[in-house]
Amino acid sequence: MTQIFAHRGYSASFAENTLTAFFEAEKAGADGLELDVQLTKDGEIVVIHDEKVDRTTDGNGFVKDYLYKDLRKLNANKKSNKKEPIPALTEVFEWLTSNKLICNIELKNGLFPYKGLEEKIIELIHKYQLVDRIIISSFNHYSIVYSYRLAPEIETAPLFYEGIYMPWIYTQSIRAKGMHPRYSAIIDEIIIKAMENGIAVRPYTVNKEEDLRRLFNINCTALITDDPVKALNIRNQYEKRP
Ligand code: G3P
Ligand code: CA
Repeated sequence: MTQIFAHRGYSASFAENTLTAFFEAEKAGADGLELDVQLTKDGEIVVIHDEKVDRTTDGNGFVKDYLYKDLRKLNANKKSNKKEPIPALTEVFEWLTSNKLICNIELKNGLFPYKGLEEKIIELIHKYQLVDRIIISSFNHYSIVYSYRLAPEIETAPLFYEGIYMPWIYTQSIRAKGMHPRYSAIIDEIIIKAMENGIAVRPYTVNKEEDLRRLFNINCTALITDDPVKALNIRNQYEKRP
């Protein structure tokens, strides 16, 4: 059965990367979450997609230039009347201990290297005993390898924006157990071949019905979507098949 991961939480209907979006994804019945992390000036891991706070909050400037206590004053839920701060990763982890969701943490360290980010995340994963439920992904594959070296027991997965030749070979070469390709940059045959070679394939960001069906049809490991409710409704039709 293809697992459904809620991209930035249930972001089709709720403010992305907020606790509300994560809680709603769980309520909807998603199997997992995808979220993005950056580091504040004083070293707190926070859940936000962009390096800057401008798009998703009422503030402006780079996350890396904010002290955590000041960043917390910003409103990350402009979609509703309910003000909500940018979450700390620890808040998400605390909540994860009360459920069974899988959590894919995307390290957003392509633009700024965020020294120590991998060490801090791995320490928290161990502290909250989430080793078996976390997947570390990134477009920064050096960071993926570094994470693996620090904690080989935690699953890693490179993100691929472009199609590459035999991606399962590359994925195995960096000791990752999964790969997260852009769904429109990979064909079914390559997904199947990767899975046959023991690699978990979780394409992103799959929102259209025909694309969701395409991945359910080949029993892809998982998919990452903004709309877990839509994806679950479609997946239900496959589960009811004789
Ligand atoms: O992790 C998959 C996907 O989230 C990567 O792209 O820009 O939505 O973080 P982006
Ligand atoms: Ca992401």
